[in-house]
Amino acid sequence: MNPEQQIQELVDKLQHLNYRYYQDNVSEVSDFEFDQLLKQLKELEDQYPDLRQEDSPTLRVGGTITKNFNTVYHRYPMLSLDNTYNEQELRNFDDRVRRGLDGEPYEYICELKFDGISLSFTYENGVLVRGVTRGDGTRGDEITNNVKTIRSLPLRVKAENVPPVFEIRGEGFMPITSFQKLNEEMDTLGENQYANPRNAASGSFKLQDSGETARRGLDCYLYSFLTDTEFFKSHEESLLGLKAWGFNVSPGWKKVQTIDEVLEFIHEWEEKRLTLPLATDGIVVKINSFEQQRELGFTAKSPRWAISFKYKAENKPAVLRMVTYQVGRTGAVTPVANLCDISERALPYNQVKGVHLSGTRVKRATLHNANEVLRLGLEIGDTVFVEKSGEIIPKITGVDISQREKYPTEPLIFPTHCPECSSELQRNEGEVAFFCPNDSHCPPQLKGRIEHFIHRKAMNIESLGEGKIELLFDLDLVRTPADLYDLTPETLLGLEKNILNEETGKVKKISFREKTVENILNGIALSKTVPFKNVLFALGIRFVGATVAEKLAAYFKSMNALRLATYDQLIAVPEIGGRIAESIASYFSVPENQQLVARLQAAGIQMESDEKPVELESDMLEGKTFVISGVFENFERDDLKLKIEVNGGRVLSGVSGKLNYLLAGANMGPSKLEKARKLGVTILSEEEFLAMIENK
Ligand code: IVH
Repeated sequence: MNPEQQIQELVDKLQHLNYRYYQDNVSEVSDFEFDQLLKQLKELEDQYPDLRQEDSPTLRVGGTITKNFNTVYHRYPMLSLDNTYNEQELRNFDDRVRRGLDGEPYEYICELKFDGISLSFTYENGVLVRGVTRGDGTRGDEITNNVKTIRSLPLRVKAENVPPVFEIRGEGFMPITSFQKLNEEMDTLGENQYANPRNAASGSFKLQDSGETARRGLDCYLYSFLTDTEFFKSHEESLLGLKAWGFNVSPGWKKVQTIDEVLEFIHEWEEKRLTLPLATDGIVVKINSFEQQRELGFTAKSPRWAISFKYKAENKPAVLRMVTYQVGRTGAVTPVANLCDISERALPYNQVKGVHLSGTRVKRATLHNANEVLRLGLEIGDTVFVEKSGEIIPKITGVDISQREKYPTEPLIFPTHCPECSSELQRNEGEVAFFCPNDSHCPPQLKGRIEHFIHRKAMNIESLGEGKIELLFDLDLVRTPADLYDLTPETLLGLEKNILNEETGKVKKISFREKTVENILNGIALSKTVPFKNVLFALGIRFVGATVAEKLAAYFKSMNALRLATYDQLIAVPEIGGRIAESIASYFSVPENQQLVARLQAAGIQMESDEKPVELESDMLEGKTFVISGVFENFERDDLKLKIEVNGGRVLSGVSGKLNYLLAGANMGPSKLEKARKLGVTILSEEEFLAMIENK
């Protein structure tokens, strides 16, 4: 078989498997086999780029980097819906519809209202060519490479009778399980967690790295179809049509004849929706016939033929039984409310089931920090109100002080000492969190640092997830990341431990059999090849996230150079400020950290960046500083940056009096331009810049 045939065969096979999986819910092969096929295809495509097909399944795994998303106009504006929270307003809507249609009979389609972000997809000759966010309704961001990672979205429509150009719209969302996984990961990395799946979806669809978007497991439900000439006669027909063409249409919709049936649908889904794998916040009611939709028309903002009914977030009383304190990797102490239902007030706490709220039993809610406790004015024994924000994360919204007479309370005293290691807690000026300063011995800090160390974006030791670290830590085998490199088959084989999940109360048994041990040790060995920037990130230095680590690695090129850098040398690095510089200097001044780095080095981990130093083309921009802003015709921003640097110049992030040039592209912010003008900074266009460096 020649490469072209090989590629075709793999594409067909993968498309078939994808279709079976998403349309028929059947997995013909394991995830592993699927990924292997995908990998084979990717390798062939990399070898023969000309043979890559425009709808290749490898697009699903992403890998493109987009520096700035293009802004594009919507062919048809993306409107929003009128909202209501009560039944009377819904009946009023029905009255307006009846009057608007002069007494003609009409039907409604009821659908769930998915809580994600509105997306628009354009297909030309059956191929997905563009994916755009709603933006302001008139224009949005073009995020085509990111939407192609949605596995359930056809990259090519196989049906015969599709119009040459059409647009479909739907809701991009993050399933609840993906959301929880992502937040756990954010937590391990010490990054901010997303408040709800909608924010997570919105952030993830707009990532520059489509590979990361792909990993986050986004999905999409489609609910509208648009063309220049009418294709379907009704919304129902269009939903059935989309479904038949292979689009992911949510199965929950229903056609009804009267507003009473609409209300029935609303009641039916009030609880049922909470069992769905994604967040929903209401119901959308739409007139079925497209002709009648046209008759009713639009207001400036929304259609007159549709309305959304939003469920009120369920808010219930609960009893604050006690507050426990969690210590994280960075030592930050987070207060957690332990709750029970008001009917369980007298039960011992280990027997309570918790408050029933939006489909689950809630026993815990984070209180974030001491300020939040003060703001709410909480006391132990208080009757509080709980709600789920975005229907997922429980949150205390207030206190019912009137209950204190009947049920006496005790003051809530924030601890002065660490609940895990008894060190005296501290609080930095200007920060809300109390933290435990004992970073070299406090158990959750040590364990958290190892979890961070093995993370995919750090040393990527996947074989050590899910409780294995806990086992190694509890048995005193691994106390610092360097201990991982001393593990041997003999120490690991046969280890066992039951691990209790406090949320579910379930016990999971972990045991190290031969295969597990082999995987663990292979993973650890392989981590010696991850690049220096990952190693630097893996150390978990405060304020040194993945991006900062990358910048530092590129600048200093080795752990040694970074370790010896002075504060002044650190802040000289573009985009490294005082807070980061201080944190780095302080990290390397601690003997335990010096020892850790030395042991990691001895274990054979990459302590130097193997990127070749850039070769200078000229030194004509020596001593000159630039800020790059806006979008450019011939360059991505990074290319421009490189061009400046290989000619001896430096790129800064903000406009100041010291700046020499502002390189201004299209769509740059007017305030930056204004500031540059005021400060007398020379403003260069792309052409002027090109002329400048070509004249060398
Ligand atoms: S139809 C003219 N159907 O809700 C507007 N929208 O408030 C047509 N949404 O921007 C939208 N589920 O992001 C429609 N089944 C559904 C929906 C839905 C969620 C979102 C959508 C829209 C917003 C309007």
